[in-house]
Amino acid sequence: MHKTCFITRRRALWLGLGALVTAGDLTRDMAKCLSQKIQDMDGQERDFKVARGASLKERAAAKGLIYGAASRYDDLSSNAEFADRFVEECGLLVPEWEFKWSAGNKLLRPTPDSFNFTAADWMAKFARNHNLLLQGQTLVWHESLPPWFEDTVNRKNAEQLLVKHIETVAGSYTGQMHSWAVVNEAIKLSDRRSDGLRKTPWLEFLGPDYIELAFRVAASADPQALLFYNDFGLDYDTPADEAKRTAVLRLLERLKSRGTPVHALGLQAHLSGDESRFNARKLRNFLHDVASLGLKILVTELDVTDKNLPENTGVRDRIVAAAYEDYLSAVLDEPAAIGVLTWGLSDRYTWLSEFAPRADGAPVRSLPLDAELKRKLAWNALARAFDRAPVRDAHLKVKEHKSDNKSDFFV
Ligand code: XIL
Repeated sequence: MHKTCFITRRRALWLGLGALVTAGDLTRDMAKCLSQKIQDMDGQERDFKVARGASLKERAAAKGLIYGAASRYDDLSSNAEFADRFVEECGLLVPEWEFKWSAGNKLLRPTPDSFNFTAADWMAKFARNHNLLLQGQTLVWHESLPPWFEDTVNRKNAEQLLVKHIETVAGSYTGQMHSWAVVNEAIKLSDRRSDGLRKTPWLEFLGPDYIELAFRVAASADPQALLFYNDFGLDYDTPADEAKRTAVLRLLERLKSRGTPVHALGLQAHLSGDESRFNARKLRNFLHDVASLGLKILVTELDVTDKNLPENTGVRDRIVAAAYEDYLSAVLDEPAAIGVLTWGLSDRYTWLSEFAPRADGAPVRSLPLDAELKRKLAWNALARAFDRAPVRDAHLKVKEHKSDNKSDFFV
């Protein structure tokens, strides 16, 4: 007969970490660090309670913010229950593969002279039919390039190829796009250039001005879309992230000084649950500097890898949720922040299962919904961040989300 023990959640949590130390799964230092992450500012263990009711997109919209997620044609088209949950929670869709040159099993660019818009058209129609904003990711990147790229593109034809790609792809969806990630991940300090630029084929064939060219062609192809520069590794109080924040700010300053039509910075925000070096003040200062250039800020690929966290899902979920909450409470303090997009909605389809699998083989638990499409504490953390965020532009403010004062602890 199972002995009923009246222990508090706090005790259960401590027991969780304590038991893991006893079992040797955690060092004492790791347990201390992880337990601190789960506490709020005055050392109380966070309960992640959230007012019942509204979805993530409704809570975001109540503050004039956008919430959305990346997803794939294969997942939305084959699973009606998932598609329904996506539409319920999200106000924006980012096709994870369908607007890349070539990603997963999708080939937008079968040959140097052809385009296959079948999947992208389906995603654009899905967004239209469900009143979702649509974001294109990404027009210019050094990854997800088609098989013919390396043997075809050279100094002579690179500009014509790049211009034609952007004109054709962005031009095919003019007026349908909320935003485009025009250039993705162009900074890599370990490539040791004075301008911090990553050594990509685009840089090799076109020089540093390929970035400005891409934005100008995109602005001409779709004057209505918000055009942003997208990058990762800008989040933590580490020497590498600090240096990259400085390099990205310098790039944005250079682009703006030349009148480049760049409208926002995309923070990919691929966070790590076991990373303790987060400094909200430093992140807020960086975002303020970006906003001072007249740029908006979008969190574009938010997720929290749990690969180095204990297997215990009760502990893991709390640490992941704390990472979401701490990061977003800093970002959403910045008035120029206009939205938060997670790189996926459900653990069932996260790219992290391949990109950052757990050594113990346990399914990753990085996103707001679990693999059964149930809300997790990560969902609570996003909901609390939106509920606590300052209201944005008054005209965007929709009916304030009226909680029924009945807080609903998510078990
Ligand atoms: C990734 C997708 O999630 C994968 O499914 C795909 O195979 C490769 O691209 N940073 C980015 C995104 O800018 O485009 C990446 O998306 C994830 C990391």
